[in-house]
Amino acid sequence: MKKAFVKSYGCQMNAYDAGRMADLLAAEGYSATETVEEADVVVLNTCHIREKASEKVFSEVGRLRVLKAERAQAGLDTRIVVAGCVAQAEGREILARTPAVDVVVGPQSYHRLPELLAESRSRRVVDTEFPIEDKFSKLPARRNRGVTGFLTIQEGCDKFCAFCVVPYTRGAEVSRPVAQIRAEAEAMLAGGVREITLIGQNVNAYHGEAPGGGSATLADLMRALSDLPGLARLRYTTSHPNDMGDDLIAAHGDNPLVMPYLHLPVQSGSTRVLQAMNRKHTADEYRRLIARVREARPDIALSSDFIVGFPGETDAEFEETMRLVADIDFASAFSFKYSPRAGTPAAEREDAIPEAVKTERLARLQHLLDQQRHAFNESMVGRTVEVLVEKAGRHPGQVAGKTPHLLMVQIDAPASTIGTLLTVRITRSGANSLFGELLPDAAAA
Ligand code: 5AD
Ligand code: SF4
Repeated sequence: MKKAFVKSYGCQMNAYDAGRMADLLAAEGYSATETVEEADVVVLNTCHIREKASEKVFSEVGRLRVLKAERAQAGLDTRIVVAGCVAQAEGREILARTPAVDVVVGPQSYHRLPELLAESRSRRVVDTEFPIEDKFSKLPARRNRGVTGFLTIQEGCDKFCAFCVVPYTRGAEVSRPVAQIRAEAEAMLAGGVREITLIGQNVNAYHGEAPGGGSATLADLMRALSDLPGLARLRYTTSHPNDMGDDLIAAHGDNPLVMPYLHLPVQSGSTRVLQAMNRKHTADEYRRLIARVREARPDIALSSDFIVGFPGETDAEFEETMRLVADIDFASAFSFKYSPRAGTPAAEREDAIPEAVKTERLARLQHLLDQQRHAFNESMVGRTVEVLVEKAGRHPGQVAGKTPHLLMVQIDAPASTIGTLLTVRITRSGANSLFGELLPDAAAA
């Protein structure tokens, strides 16, 4: 049997795409392998969002080139595919610089992977088009992978934040119809999934075709999914502050399947920097928005993304970010040094912040965010929560799963509980995980 090795970098959308490429290859008779040496097809699903992502691709391909030559000596063919956002942004350069690569395919055309592989027998191929046909309707039915799963409902972005490559690599915002999403959710649930995370670059800008005509918001979509048998939990990511509609905020209070967790990137606490980033809201508007979300769901866990050292960011402006973090109190967060991305407006600016300043700011911000995360985790100790068990735990006799607030918990319980909701008392908070004990009469469905 032919084997395929698929490796994904970057965001959850990429992880989803990698899974769908694995589905496509499975339909062509390839079984999945984790051992790259035995792979007949290797797919690198690349990320372009930060740092020297493309350099990483070139060095990875360098290693694969050696492997491909070794396999060729043994009479084995190896096809190397570069997919994802670096493929989209730098497709032609990749082909020119790296003869070992057979196929370059972008995020909007990977449904054509089997054809492209066939074509690559006679010539090297690049497909970085934004086709008009609907990629999703061309993909085979999805196969089950575990208790939780991602479902792409929206792709692309029309916001054009000054630092971001997404609008260029993923293209314009497109939402999938409700009926198509429901069908995919049903297939996931039939395969044993209990928690679905709806994903999109700008997921709360979702405006897909509603079954009865017109368009559905994200809150409408979540309501439409809520009656699916077996579905225990819904999450969504990633959102833009300006697309937090009233009905979505309300859903956190009145749709019991929507988990009390919100990842809402703010990037900076300085209104001046936000404006330079083209975020189109102020720091105080973000504060007020968070207050409204907390009114709808007081115990909500908040998460965010931050960029430090955006061109022109002064010390005082960075302090405003520190103040915003102190005011809001996040349960978790991701923070990054600004890195210029070719083709974006911010990359043209001449007031770059020195690396040492970025490093110092990032360390201070991360220290504060870490303190907040630890405090949030500690606040769970002694509480009774529902855990969706996902997998075997760290030690024999343990299982692991997540709380509604997306915290991983290790529990002494048998493997037969995987896929179920357990009522658990949190006993201790460790560095990366909580620990919990099963309450005697607690197994819920
Ligand atoms: N430099 C640093 N961080 C970036 N992000 C996006 N583009 C850049 C960049 N050029 C971060 C943002 C975004 C997250 C996904 O990645 O914080 O929310
Ligand atoms: Fe990038 Fe801004 Fe769009 Fe997010 S909202 S994907 S940061 S352009």
